[in-house]
Amino acid sequence: SVHNNSNNASFFVANEIADLIRQRQKEGKKLVLGLATGSTPTKAYDFLVKFHKEEGLSFKNVITFNLDEYFPMEADSIHSYVRFMNEHLFDHIDIKKENINIPNGRLDREDVREFCDDYEKKIQDAGGIDIQVLGIGRTGHIGFNEPGSSLTSKTRLVRLDRVTRLDAASDFFGLENVPTRAITMGVGTIMAAKKIILMAWGEGKSIIVKEAVEGPIRESVPATFLQNHPNCSFVIDEAAASEL
Ligand code: GLP
Repeated sequence: SVHNNSNNASFFVANEIADLIRQRQKEGKKLVLGLATGSTPTKAYDFLVKFHKEEGLSFKNVITFNLDEYFPMEADSIHSYVRFMNEHLFDHIDIKKENINIPNGRLDREDVREFCDDYEKKIQDAGGIDIQVLGIGRTGHIGFNEPGSSLTSKTRLVRLDRVTRLDAASDFFGLENVPTRAITMGVGTIMAAKKIILMAWGEGKSIIVKEAVEGPIRESVPATFLQNHPNCSFVIDEAAASEL
């Protein structure tokens, strides 16, 4: 759906999530939420915090799995996605600590493989992801699945594309400080989610949004795989929709 601005679009997304949480709560069931970082989802998280504070929306029955984390990355670093999620969402809601899952950026290299396999297993044991929130990178990456990621890829250690590192350079005060690798859920992990919502704002995303929605499905633009998902919606603003 196309909204006139990112605020309205974020409100729409936050409401979809909140409705599902409440629905599951009524049934006495858990909701498994896949979360993303970056500047795109922050407004939707702000609305979820607002719903918690003002309408009593509870996250006690919510289990979260984040898409990705830089590697290596200390949890308390200002650049970590752990810190990002705490600041933008988790510190302000009543989610249980043990229900929060984020790829671990502080492992020894030789332990990463086992961690990734466990991450996949944890998602499955939780019943699979009910709703996965996504942003999109200029390379067409979802999570950190860069061009070349296969449709069946699972959680793993990946090398970041130069374009992605350039886009992150200002946050890290220089390209040389941006990690070269990350742990990310795979395309296959994301595609297994029951529902996917991809958000994108601004003119800068318009070309990659067009590619993702209208371009041929291919590994060189991983977001194109979403065209084959049975329940995926793009929630974008008018600027991001301008090339469609
Ligand atoms: C990073 C994240 C992605 C995100 C992308 C876009 O690469 N790992 O999940 O979609 O940035 O970032 P932004 O939302 O700031 O445009």
